[in-house]
Parts: sequence; structure tokens; C-alpha cells
Amino acid sequence: MKRESFGSRLGFILVSAGCAIGIGNVWKFPYICGAYGGAAFILIYLCFLVILGIPVLVAEFAVGRGSHTSVAKCFDKLAPAGSCWKPLKFIGIIGCYMLMMFYTTVGGWMIYYCVKSLRGDFVGATPEAVTQSFSDMLGNAPTMMLWMVIICLIGFAVCFMGLQNGIEKISKVMMSALLIIMVILAVHSVMMEGAGEGIRFYLIPDFQKIKEAGVGNVVFAALSQSFFTLSIGIGAMLIFGSYLDKSRSLTGEAVSITVLDTFVALTAGFIIIPACFSYGIQPDAGPSLIFITLPNVFQQAFSGVPILAYIFSVMFYVLLAMAALTSTISLHEVVTAYLHEEFNFTRGKAARLVTGGCIFLGILCSLSLGVMKGFTIFGLGIFDLFDFVTAKIMLTLGGLCISIFTGWYLDKKIVWSEITNDGSLKVPVYKLIIFILRYIAPIAISLIFINELGLIKL
Ligand code: PFF
Repeated sequence: MKRESFGSRLGFILVSAGCAIGIGNVWKFPYICGAYGGAAFILIYLCFLVILGIPVLVAEFAVGRGSHTSVAKCFDKLAPAGSCWKPLKFIGIIGCYMLMMFYTTVGGWMIYYCVKSLRGDFVGATPEAVTQSFSDMLGNAPTMMLWMVIICLIGFAVCFMGLQNGIEKISKVMMSALLIIMVILAVHSVMMEGAGEGIRFYLIPDFQKIKEAGVGNVVFAALSQSFFTLSIGIGAMLIFGSYLDKSRSLTGEAVSITVLDTFVALTAGFIIIPACFSYGIQPDAGPSLIFITLPNVFQQAFSGVPILAYIFSVMFYVLLAMAALTSTISLHEVVTAYLHEEFNFTRGKAARLVTGGCIFLGILCSLSLGVMKGFTIFGLGIFDLFDFVTAKIMLTLGGLCISIFTGWYLDKKIVWSEITNDGSLKVPVYKLIIFILRYIAPIAISLIFINELGLIKL
């Protein structure tokens, strides 16, 4: 069977960047940055993106393109006979599935905020009222469940339409519009009265803040966020590699995606962080940060022209919901492809099963923020547990495994041919990537992990 490939180079970059760019950039990055010390955290995060993120992304693409299949089958095809790599696919499949529940819950909040902006709920609202409205949403389980189910169903519908028709068209328009609106908002935020302190917090590293938050915690947060933002470690990007044409340079694509993704995250920080300082909102407010900051930003940015505030805020939440959707679709695709390839289910049946399960577990996730708040496992509610297990554990462990696999166990001819494009890439770049995959990534990720487990202390 011939696999579909992408209509254009821009199409590939936007679709895989669509998977990478999501709520992690606009929702998670600003609040983690706020909680872990601002500029100093960003510095560590950027180092991880370059030193570990890009090489691991190249490795995922190489395994995808080398095997022409998804994470479900790639190890069956490429791992040396008799090796123990095959069960590794379950980090990918289970990781994608768990991440999808948590992700669709937050994606649902985005759609709900579109509706709230459409209804004009934030027009004239004080910062206190905006903050209260987020708490009200968390306490309103049926509302959260409804929007979570809706995002799951939209994801299902798009997945059903197929790669070319669905995702590529949506991503091209969406990504470009999102970037334009974000840049406009960022320019406004940095020019706001009282934004100076926020800009300093965001741009001037203060390593004392890292000490206060705990060096080990900050390093682990930066590592896991760099993997989360690039969607690496659980095979979501691997599948895009499998669709990638042989003539493209994997390193070139990985760099383009990382640059675009980082641009969006940093721009989101420029919108949120100066604005919180200006409104007196704590930058370490956590997951609620963008929901209590953004509605105020819209009102102020266009205070003379309320209709513009209205249009921009509706558009922004629509685009954010779509950014969440494109990432959800990639996660959905990994699990659907697994059921389709492994158990010979039709794609329709596989997609229905994935969606049904996601809705069920997603409901538990939503409830854990409200009526099931008291129910905890290892001290965490279901929402936080899914976030912790996927973002912090599975992505980093998956990244560690894919580096070791590509660096040490994958057939050298495949590694050479995929990473250098049959010899057309400069040898030093190839050598550097392989060196990182063999030594730097395994050692660095393991040390950070061991530290987090409390065996050594930074
Ligand atoms: N990179 C996505 C974001 O920043 O929102 C999150 C993500 C999607 C992580 C898909 C992992 C993944 F497989």
C-alpha cells in the first residue's frame, strides 16, 4: 500500500508544527516559566531544545521514515531480531492515549472560552471577575465535560477525513492566523503601563529564582517542557517522519519546526508575563494563568474599540482551540493507527474505539478538578496525574529510549541514509547528532531523572 505524503514542503512543516504547537506553547509555557523563575528557566529550556530536542526529533523522524510506519510497528520492523525493543511501542501508545485525555480537557476549556467570548461575557469584566469565572468553570463539571466531548468528536471527524484533506488544509490557515494575532497582542502587552517589571522577569536571568524553586525541579521542568513542546518521546512526530518524502532533510525539518514552535512559545510569554505584572496577577498562578490574564489583555488592548476586542478575543480562542485540536489529532492518529495495523480493525472502527475511550477517561479527568477533587492517586488528582505521568515521565523516558535505539541499535546503514539523506548532509552535523544520541542524551536525561527520583540532589 502506498502511503500518502504531504502536498508541499510548507504543508509538512505546518502539519508537524501544528502537532508541536498547541496548548503547551500558549497555556503551559507561560505558566511554567512564571512558576520556575522566568528568564533563567527560559535559558535552560532553550539549551535543552537545541542540545536534546532537535536531535531526538531527528531520531524520531529517522525511525518513522526508515520504517515507513507508526510507533506501533516501527520497532517490529527495525529492531534487531531477538532484542527487547518491541514493548517500547507501549510507551508511545499508552503515552499518547493518556496525554489525549488531559489534552482534550484543556482543549475543551479553550472552546468554552470561545463561547464565553462570543457571548461577550468578558466585556467590561474586572480582573477579579475574570479570575472568578475560571474557578466557576472548574467547579462546573457538566460544562467541562461537554466541551471536552465536543473536541474529541471534532478530532474524530477530522481523523476520519484523512491526512491530506483534513489536517493539512486546516493547519496552514490556522497557524498563520494564530501567529499574526499573537504578534499583535505581544506588541501591545510589552507596551502596557507597568509591563517593565514583567519584561525584566522574562528577559533578564535571575539565577537566585532558580535556587528558590530548586535547581533540580527547574532543570526537570525545562527538560520535560522542551520534549512536551516538540511532541517528542511518544511517537507522535515519528508518524510524520513516516509520511515524509525521501528528498527532505530531517535535520532541516526538525530545525524549522523547533524555530517555529519556540517563536510561538516565546511570543505567548511576551503576551502573558508583562500583562500579569501590569494587572497584579502572580506569574506563578499555575494552569489558570492564561485564563485569568488574556481576557484582561483583550479588553485593554482594544479599549477604545470594543468591537475589535470582541473580534480578536473570539478569533484567538478559536485558533487556540484549533491548535489544541491539531495536536489532539496527532495523538488520536497514533492510537488509531496502532489498532488498525495491529488488530486489522478498519480505520473507522479503530477511530471510534479511540474516541469512545478518550471521552470516558476524559470525563474522569474533568471531574477530578471538581466533584472528584478528593480522589487522588499518589497524592495527585486524575488530571494532574495524567499530566505528570505523560509530560514528565513518558515523554522523557520515551526520548531516552529513542536516542539509545537510534544511536546504538538501529541498523547503521538506515541511520546514515536517513540522517544524511544518503550522504547529502554535511558529515560534522551527522556526527554531532549521533554523538548526542549515543552519549549526551542518554546520560543527561538519566541524570536528570535520577535526580528527580531523589537519589542524587542538585
Ligand atoms: N506539543 C504539544 C503542545 O505543545 O501543546 C503537546 C503534545 C502533543 C505533546 C503531542 C506530545 C504529543 F505527542
